[in-house]
Amino acid sequence: MSERHPPPRVDVFADAALANIRSRQRERNLRTIDGPASSSQQVNRHAALQFCGSNYLDLAHHPEVVAAAARGAQDWGCASGGSRLINGNLRCHEQLEAELADYLGTEAALVFGPGYMANVGIIPALVDTEDLIVSDALSHASLIDGCQLSRASVQVFPHNDVAALQSLLQRERGRYRRALLAVDGLYSMDGDIAPLGEFVDIAERYDVMLLVDDTHATGTVGDDGRGSAVHRGVAPQRVDIQLGSLAKALGSYGSFVAGSRTMCELLINTCRSFIFSCALPPPQVEAARAALKIMRREPWRRDQLQHNGDHLRQALHAHGIGTGQSSTHILPVIVGGNEATMQLCESLLQQGYFTQGIRYPSVPDGTARLRLTVMSSHTEQDLDSLAGAIAETMQKE
Ligand SMILES: Cc1ncc(COP(=O)(O)O)c(C=O)c1O
Repeated sequence: MSERHPPPRVDVFADAALANIRSRQRERNLRTIDGPASSSQQVNRHAALQFCGSNYLDLAHHPEVVAAAARGAQDWGCASGGSRLINGNLRCHEQLEAELADYLGTEAALVFGPGYMANVGIIPALVDTEDLIVSDALSHASLIDGCQLSRASVQVFPHNDVAALQSLLQRERGRYRRALLAVDGLYSMDGDIAPLGEFVDIAERYDVMLLVDDTHATGTVGDDGRGSAVHRGVAPQRVDIQLGSLAKALGSYGSFVAGSRTMCELLINTCRSFIFSCALPPPQVEAARAALKIMRREPWRRDQLQHNGDHLRQALHAHGIGTGQSSTHILPVIVGGNEATMQLCESLLQQGYFTQGIRYPSVPDGTARLRLTVMSSHTEQDLDSLAGAIAETMQKE
């Protein structure tokens, strides 16, 4: 006779928590994708044009990138075998770091695991209970979580509001030992670029370290794709800590910090997510190195990405659909309600357009949206047909 067990204790909690999530139309579900992250994909076994990924320059499946990853696996194996400080600091990590520093024009760079891990480690390595963090209201979740882990005092200023930031620092700066300004360079849910020229001036005036999370700007904006500071005409050396991504435009996985050699040395010594975590696997390191070369050799990819962002923006505007402050390859179509957003998203998928509805806590409550992203490989026809489908579907619903 089989014994009857009570449900696992975690399920008692999980059932109640999930019921609460569902009652607010905030349930999240995974969709199954077949094939590489290109502009058309199989989603739940149906072909669709894809407008929600981060493989912006279409490098994740580029033959040279794939060959480099395979060579990395062949030469080095599939794992680094340990953390950087134990036995996982491979020559290819150092080669990639030298190439990234050369690319960005900084003294040094340090490769990390995912960007989320980098942010939750870097911030506590820079500030502590006696310090102040000022952060943009729309800063990415990983910056917010890093701020909390640091135990510093956190003050939030309205999105991109230079005057509010200045008066906040004027009022508060004197009460703290060190201060850190933490912002995104290119906002992942809004597609706008921070006013980094003004932020750098303010940071210098008030003796504040500046951390710019440039995850979505690496390889996509600024001269040679060097990111949002360069896009704003700011020399990269004036940004204390720049976080870049290997996982978006560079088509691999992981992230890196660029800045001074001393800052990188500090992180090697005190950043817990660097110290207590395995190093990036060699296939991903070699893939990133190959993608960096292609990205620099083929600026047409970036030009095409910007062109496609502009084209989709104009097409949506022609249908009377706003895209907020977006000026890049990321375009929000703000719907407002959770249910309406997810219905729009589902209906578009049924028509062969893979978009994603984004809700709280990824964006502020009441601003649920389709977060559209373009790739360099979309055609104008792809973009026009998406804009038409969104307009028609919104009108119907
Ligand atoms: C602005 C920003 N920072 C950090 C991250 C985390 O990066 P990763 O996906 O490498 O963990 C993301 C994720 O997309 C992001 O949008």
